Amino acid sequence: MPIAAPDTERLTRLDHAHVWHPFTPMRQWRGRAPVIIERGEGFELIDTHGRRYIDGYSSLWCNVHGHRVPEIDTAIREQLDRVAHATMLGAATAPAIELAADLVGRCNAVEPATPGARLTKVFYTDAGATATEVALKMAAGFHHHRAGRGRDLFLAVAGGYHGDTMGAISVGFLPAMHGPYERFVFDVRRVPAPDPRAQAPTAGAAGEWPSWDRERGVAAVDAALAALDRALDEFGDRACALMIEPIMQGAGGMVAHPPGYLAGAVERCRSRGVLVIADEVATGIARTGAFLACDTERVRPDILCLAKGLSGGYLPLAATLCTEEIASAFEGEPHEHKTLYHGHTYTGNPLACAAAIASLELIDERGVVENARRLGGVIRDRLRAALACHPHVGDVRSRGVMTGIELVESRDPWAPFDPARGVGAEVCDEARRRGLMIRPLGDVVVLNPAPAMDEGTLGRALDLVLEAIDAVTRRPAGRPR
Ligand SMILES: Cc1ncc(COP(=O)(O)O)c(C=O)c1O
Repeated sequence: MPIAAPDTERLTRLDHAHVWHPFTPMRQWRGRAPVIIERGEGFELIDTHGRRYIDGYSSLWCNVHGHRVPEIDTAIREQLDRVAHATMLGAATAPAIELAADLVGRCNAVEPATPGARLTKVFYTDAGATATEVALKMAAGFHHHRAGRGRDLFLAVAGGYHGDTMGAISVGFLPAMHGPYERFVFDVRRVPAPDPRAQAPTAGAAGEWPSWDRERGVAAVDAALAALDRALDEFGDRACALMIEPIMQGAGGMVAHPPGYLAGAVERCRSRGVLVIADEVATGIARTGAFLACDTERVRPDILCLAKGLSGGYLPLAATLCTEEIASAFEGEPHEHKTLYHGHTYTGNPLACAAAIASLELIDERGVVENARRLGGVIRDRLRAALACHPHVGDVRSRGVMTGIELVESRDPWAPFDPARGVGAEVCDEARRRGLMIRPLGDVVVLNPAPAMDEGTLGRALDLVLEAIDAVTRRPAGRPR
């Protein structure tokens, strides 16, 4: 039942007066009627006017099984009948304990190809940024407790995104966004991502998108690993850890890493005593067609960050897992102050943990990992068939359901659109008018549906993305609808 029109008007007035939206240019936001979501149903969101939208961005890459899933709703209600929240500081709750044991099993399920200790300890927080923030402290604290003053910098893959807290933006620093905070961030050395776009096209693959050209991929991996070798030669003794989004850098522009980089990078760091932090906040929990993206290359990091899909996309919940060796470095007598002094009020909230346990059970029962892998194949086949010759599609990058379609003014020679035009945003607006919720990353149109979505709904979402791309890129500049 839609909310009455006057209520939508009132909500709009109040929103414009009082709400500051994240990652949203607010003046432009106030210039247009907002979409106010009133409820969800399966893979659709419904606004206060009763308009339906396919949730093509999984409500910011976190929804796993759709909305209002009876099994998850029931698990939350049952927990609500016991207790909504109880602190984990010096106390415990059953859902947090059960979930930790379950996660340890799942995150060690794939035997690593090269030795890597098991991840045995789970530290809860409530957002992706806090999961990575804790990971940085685990790495720095580990070296500090083991070797006195410890190490004094981090390595990170350039173009990565790890959240918006100060530690997270230190490793994921983007000048355009983080300029005002530059003097507050700590020392990080960035190594280049293995990006095929930076490699010359190979003769045999004329007209092929950069990310689909195997030889460019191999060259990109070789170049990135050589750069990592150089960084490790120079900073290996000082680096606490390498921070990496495995196989797909998400919010930095959906940059898919060709096979071999992750395993090569982990092996190199290990040999130099540099820890590896896998930020799987976006890639984890089935989204790339494996439970963890790390499973794809059979690597096990020293520290693993999960959030977004952990609770099925229901409630704020994050987990940072680490090895026994790292956790034990923080153990000692209280007066030695080795304790990890980090915690949040809602850390390990029992409602969120109950949702996560129910969601993980559904992932098994419904074969969601396999489904995401199958959907990934559908996405690739469909986009290739529809866009291979499109003059304004410069690259298509995907891993599982995580998909980026890069729009360009011209493919050959490669020329981006004028950023002031905001073509990516125009396409997403057009898609929304047609009934699909997606968000761009610059001129990369991102489709990132729930890993459990059915093929019919995915097919409709793909139709709408393709229609929107066509409508906007064939429209003369300066003539937005
Ligand atoms: C890889 C990665 N790390 C961390 C974060 C931050 O997560 P949150 O927005 O929950 O703080 C994100 C969010 O998009 C992400 O994609």
